[in-house]
Amino acid sequence: MKYTSTRGGESDVDFAGVLFAGFASDGGLFMPQDIPRLDKDTLLKWSIFSYPDLVKEVCSIFIPSELIPRQDLNGTSGDTGSSAIESVRGVRNIDIVVLLPHDRCTQIQERQMTTVIEDNVHVFSAEGTSDDLDEVIKKLFADTEFVRRHNLMSLNSVNWARIMVQIAHFFYAYYQCVPAVETDDPLPVVEVVVPTGGAGNITAGCIAQRMCLPIQLVAGVNNNDIIHRTIQHGDFSLSDTVLSTLASAMDIQEPYNMERVFWLVTDSDSSLVKKLMEEFQKNKTCKLPDKLHAKIAEVLISYSVSDEDIIQTMKRCWVDNRYLLCPHSAVAVFYHYMMSDRHQNRPRCCLAPASAAKFQNAVLRADLTPQIPPEIKALETMETRFTLLKREDNWELILRDKIEDIFLQRNV
Ligand SMILES: *[C@@H]1O[C@H](CO)[C@@H](O)[C@H](O)[C@H]1NC(C)=O
Ligand SMILES: *[C@@H]1O[C@H](CO)[C@@H](O)[C@H](O)[C@H]1NC(C)=O
Ligand SMILES: *[C@@H]1O[C@H](CO)[C@@H](O)[C@H](O)[C@H]1NC(C)=O
Repeated sequence: MKYTSTRGGESDVDFAGVLFAGFASDGGLFMPQDIPRLDKDTLLKWSIFSYPDLVKEVCSIFIPSELIPRQDLNGTSGDTGSSAIESVRGVRNIDIVVLLPHDRCTQIQERQMTTVIEDNVHVFSAEGTSDDLDEVIKKLFADTEFVRRHNLMSLNSVNWARIMVQIAHFFYAYYQCVPAVETDDPLPVVEVVVPTGGAGNITAGCIAQRMCLPIQLVAGVNNNDIIHRTIQHGDFSLSDTVLSTLASAMDIQEPYNMERVFWLVTDSDSSLVKKLMEEFQKNKTCKLPDKLHAKIAEVLISYSVSDEDIIQTMKRCWVDNRYLLCPHSAVAVFYHYMMSDRHQNRPRCCLAPASAAKFQNAVLRADLTPQIPPEIKALETMETRFTLLKREDNWELILRDKIEDIFLQRNV
């Protein structure tokens, strides 16, 4: 399997080249050159696989077995910062530099990252939004010589590997929602509702759909609604500010993975994607051509919810099921309630990306009682370590120095 940039400037790149890269050198994102279409027999065969086995199947399509043997493909995903830290803490030969938006994740999420005191874990808390952080990351990764010299790799959804693993969620969710299918029956369509911020998960869903998994994707956003406006009106334009909402991990105005979605639905028209994205980057606004807009609207249903909707959904789910939703999961479940109130009851699955335990403020605002597991409670009193990046600091320079410094330490 070879990879290409969504803007056409690089192609025939192998998996290792994509893994140890952020953006492609033309500013685009990497995508597999061919996305295989699975036949019905394969879809039926996969239906009895466990989650880890589905991850292996999906990954082995996109990763050559010479690079990572199939039996070693035991992947994971979750709340990005803390799961990335957990997977490399104390590991020799890997350092991790974590950037988090100061005061824009919850105390608990922040503490899950800042309480890891390990020599190879370097946490920066920056006075800005996730979009501001993406901006510096983009600049650092644009310096391909720097990236190569230090073997840098990004672990957010800029990296194809992250998207790839998330594809498996959709297969797993699908099989959980359909009852045993008879070989002769057509496979039923399942609606998958995805709380959407940077659009990584929705991109993974679009790829699963391209692989012939019969799903209808639904993108739910909070008041930061650029994706909703894009799908409804073809209006891919930034708002003036990033709003702080209860679903804080989705407080994003520049959903960079939409570039991958544009590329997919235009059947890899990289010159169009390049033109659109360059226009968007320059003017902060771009009107999708009618044809592209129509295709996006065919693939994705969208809606936007307020904090009040989130709170009401958390309450209702608690009353009905004694299940505490995190605010992001509530964005998805809101859609389910809306549709079931209209008696639109097709098979439907809501992705629930985080635990409510990390979002106590939202739980309290819904007049519910936080459930805090002891390991989360323990974070409150643990020692923390991080470097504050002040708004006026030159973040790029500080990060470059940090990376150079790590490099020197490693090479003494
Ligand atoms: C991955 O899982 C398989 C089967 O569950 C196991 O045999 C193998 O040792 C695991 N590999 C790694 C690298 O953990
Ligand atoms: C994607 O969705 C899965 C399943 O809900 C979740 O575990 C994961 O954290 C999500 N990824 C991101 C980047 O939000
Ligand atoms: C940016 O906007 C200007 C004025 O609205 C327009 O003329 C120009 O074509 C846009 N730039 C790009 C790169 O499309």
